[in-house]
Formats: sequence, structure tokens, C-alpha cells
Amino acid sequence: MRGIILSGGSATRLRPCTLITSKQLLPVYNRPMIYYPLNTLLKAGIKEILIIVAPERAGDYLNLLGSGKQFGAKFTYEIQDKPKGLAEAFIIGENFIDDQSVAMILGDNIFEDDFSEAIRTFDSGARIFAKEVSDPERFGVVEVDKDFKALSIEEKPVSPKSNLAVTGLYLYDHRVVSAAKQVKPSERGELEITSLHNYYLELGELQVTKVTGDWLDAGTFDSLLAANILAKEKLADKMII
Ligand code: TTP
Repeated sequence: MRGIILSGGSATRLRPCTLITSKQLLPVYNRPMIYYPLNTLLKAGIKEILIIVAPERAGDYLNLLGSGKQFGAKFTYEIQDKPKGLAEAFIIGENFIDDQSVAMILGDNIFEDDFSEAIRTFDSGARIFAKEVSDPERFGVVEVDKDFKALSIEEKPVSPKSNLAVTGLYLYDHRVVSAAKQVKPSERGELEITSLHNYYLELGELQVTKVTGDWLDAGTFDSLLAANILAKEKLADKMII
């Protein structure tokens, strides 16, 4: 399986800090933020990783992460000219993905769990990772049957059908590339990842794994603070990079 870290975006919620650098390069306790999702992929045995970045920051990523050799991995870089949505990653990554399955993680998502098993045993279709939260209306929400097959998925629903929030780690088979090419921009002008999930949902091939450990996206000042504390108290000693 190949890996993608999506690390572009505009990070407006972290201005002014992100006027001069990328959100995913900001420190989270004692490491740059992107080390955490990178650690998640490397720990799961993924060694070929595409890092998608915004044009203004590409040099910084190269300086920090280089070829990947120091991490025992091989990194490839692509530019996303404008933040046109998460699903665009699979159009940008078409050649990289080729006929392989792919694990995508968002560059600002920090997980405590080890996903080795789910990633190693992934065969086909799509698998998303969901966390029980007390405020599901703020997230993409997935409803599941007793076998954790997805029944419905909704973006920031007013009346959520479950308390399972969709997190920023996703596994897909190679069909994700053609599915992404069919996606039309949403009202906010983005290629939404939910459209890809609905594609697999309609095929009956969208599986869900529950995230049991801590998870957060570090995209606001409060969640960035929480990420620093999580990293210091629980993650720092367990990192392999
Ligand atoms: P968001 O947090 O939704 O967006 P953002 O990072 O631009 O921040 P803000 O809302 O404060 O302006 O993005 C989630 C993750 O996905 C984050 O790591 C950035 C990345 N991303 C891209 O790389 N390209 C995109 O087109 C989008 C929408 C997000």
C-alpha cells in the first residue's frame, strides 16, 4: 500500500502564525506537526509516501523531510496549486497511486492508535476511521450496521444519526482515482472527500474502523494546544521518528 500525506490548505484559522509558514510545519510539543501523521504511516509499514503541499511552502517541506531516506522511506512531492478539496489528492496522485491501494492521512491529524493491522489487512473497497465524539454535528458523521459497514454518511448534520465522527485517515483501492475524477465541486467549490465515500457506500464497500485512542485535528488554536499536551503526555515516547 502507498501513502499520501495531504499537507496543503490555507490554514486561515491559525493566522497570523500561518502567514509565514505551513500549519503542518508548526511545532506540536517537540516535533513539527507533520511528524505525527508521518509516524502513523511509517509505523503501519508504509514506505512509499507522496506528500502534497502548497506551492509557497514546498521548499520548507523538502528541507525538513528530504528524500525520506533518513526515515527508511521514499518520499515524493506534488504541489496542489490551490486548496480545491481533499478529493483532489487522488487526481494529483494518479501516477503515484498507479494500480495500488492507498492510505491518505491529513497533515494536521494526530492519532494515538496504531493502524498497522487495518492497513496490512486492507484488501479492496474503502475503509474510514471514526471516533466517538460528544459533538458530532461539527464533523462528517457515519452511521454503521452491526458489522461496522457504513449505512450513511453526512457532512456536519443538524441531527446526527450517530456520534461517530469521520477522522482524517482513509484507505482506498485504486478505483479512488477514477472516482475522484467524477466528483463535481460542492457549493463551497471543493472536491469533497464525502463524495468518494458516497461512491463506495453505494457499492456497499465502505467499511468503518473505530478509533479507540485519542484523535484530534490541530487546525484551531484550542486543538493545537490540546495536541501539544497530547503529544507531551502520551505520544512523544512512542514515536518511531
Ligand atoms: P482544513 O483544516 O479543512 O483546511 P485548512 O487547513 O486550509 O484550514 P482553515 O480551515 O483554517 O483555512 O484542511 C484539513 C487538512 O487538509 C489540512 O491538513 C490541510 C489539508 N488540505 C489540503 O491539503 N488541500 C485542500 O484542498 C484542503 C481543503 C485541505
